[in-house]
This record gives sequence, structure tokens and C-alpha cells, in this order.
Amino acid sequence: MSPCVSRCEELTRASMIPRLTNGMFGPEGYRFEEVVDSTNRMAMTLAQEGAPHGTVVVADGQTGGRGRLGRSWASPPGVNLYFSMILKPELPLERVAMLTLLTGVALAECVTAAGLDGARLKWPNDLLHGGRKLGGILAEMTARGERARYVIVGVGLNVNGRATGFPADVAQRAVTMAEVLGRDSNRGEVLADFLHRFTGWYRCFLEEGFASVRAEWLGYARLTGGERVRVTTESGEVTGEALDLDERGCLMVRRGDGGILRVMTGEINFER
Ligand code: BTN
Repeated sequence: MSPCVSRCEELTRASMIPRLTNGMFGPEGYRFEEVVDSTNRMAMTLAQEGAPHGTVVVADGQTGGRGRLGRSWASPPGVNLYFSMILKPELPLERVAMLTLLTGVALAECVTAAGLDGARLKWPNDLLHGGRKLGGILAEMTARGERARYVIVGVGLNVNGRATGFPADVAQRAVTMAEVLGRDSNRGEVLADFLHRFTGWYRCFLEEGFASVRAEWLGYARLTGGERVRVTTESGEVTGEALDLDERGCLMVRRGDGGILRVMTGEINFER
């Protein structure tokens, strides 16, 4: 058996079906591909063709993995998790960004449950360990009027192997679970655990609102209120202190002049 085939094994339908027991992501919606350009692209196509809520597209490797802000996502085969969930929530557009934060909470919980201490969430879509990137989330949406028609939530999680195997520009800023834990993890187990946790948070969010997700997110973000950040938004760059997450999921930043900026979309960098 080639190394790829044996490593893919843990993510195939046959391996995953017994693990997909939570209802929202059932066996019928599980799609596994050995190689695909981007699971987000494929999930979007499937959603357009009518694939139902709860479909999840998983690939062993991607040839054109996409990150936020037009970046690429290093996606070597055989080591990491790359997957995209098709969601069809009855949500007004302004609440869709909360799904990225909710996904972050499920991801942080999942790696913590796998034994990894010190996972941290960075607004809006990064999972970090020791300041390095362990995972990322890319949510893409199609709207119908004022509501989301479907949302594709893509997740990349660096599981096994070493980040030094990534392209040079990414390698220094990335880390894998294996590097922290000192051992490999079964990707199928990690994925099933994530889907289970995501389902719990998703139902809680739809039934009770954003408050619990926000509280949990803040726990993993560990904002100190004094941390200097540089925020890049569509209207330019602002420096200040990251203070809080508001009830809509916006990052609250205190500017130098004392004014509070609520950032809905953008990117933050910690300043040293
Ligand atoms: C980011 O941090 O910029 C987001 C990265 C998201 C990567 C995942 S891998 C699975 C899914 N398919 C993609 O093409 N992108 C997301």
C-alpha cells in the first residue's frame, strides 16, 4: 500500500461513517476526495447544485487551497485536515460573520481535547499556538436578499508532520499539532470530534443566540485589553488596543485618541 493510500484511509467514507453519528453531519453528506483544487470551491459548486445543509467536503490534499484576503493555503497531502461545510442557516447577513467565530470556538476546543494546551483564537479566523498559525477558517456566502442562502465554512488545520515542510514564507509562521504534542493524531478522529463540537455550538447559536459563543471565544482569545494591534480594514489602517468582542462579533479596539472602533471585517496584527 502506498503511503498516501494508507494515510488517506483515516478520512475515507468507510472509516468516517461509523464516526458520523451526531445528526447534522450524517454519512449521506460526507464527501471525500483524495485531491481537489479547493474544498471551498467544490462545496460552493455542490451547494449551487442543491447539496443539502450538513454536507461536508473533505480532501486529503488541495492543489489550490484558498485563504482569506486572496491568499493561498498550503495543502500538502497526507498530513493535515482540509474540509468545507455547507450550511444553510436562516440568518440575516449581519449574523453570518458569527459563524466564523463559532467555528473558531469548536476548533480551539477540539485541539484542546486532543491534548494541546495553549490554543488561542485571533480575530476573526485564526487558530494560533505560540503565536504561530495552527489553523484557519474561510467562510464564503451566497445571499438571497437580506438573508444568507448558503454559507461555506472551510477549515484548514495543521495536524501531522512539520510546518517546516510548508513553503518557506509560511513555514516560519505555522505550527502543526504534532509539533506541539510530540505525536501524530488520527485525522479522522480529530475531524469527527470537530464536527460534533461544531454541531453543538451551531445549535446553541441558533437557539440561544451569540452570547455563549462570544464568552467561549473570549476565553480562547485571552485579550488583555492592553495588547497593541494594527487593524487593517477596507478604509485603512488603525493602531490601538484590542479590548473586547461586541455582541455582534465585532472586534472593539481603543484608538490612540481614546475613541472605540468596532471592526466588522478586517485583519489584525499584534504589535510587539
Ligand atoms: C485563512 O486563514 O486565511 C483561511 C484558511 C482556510 C483554508 C481552508 S482549507 C479547506 C478550505 N478550502 C480552501 O480552499 N480553504 C479552506
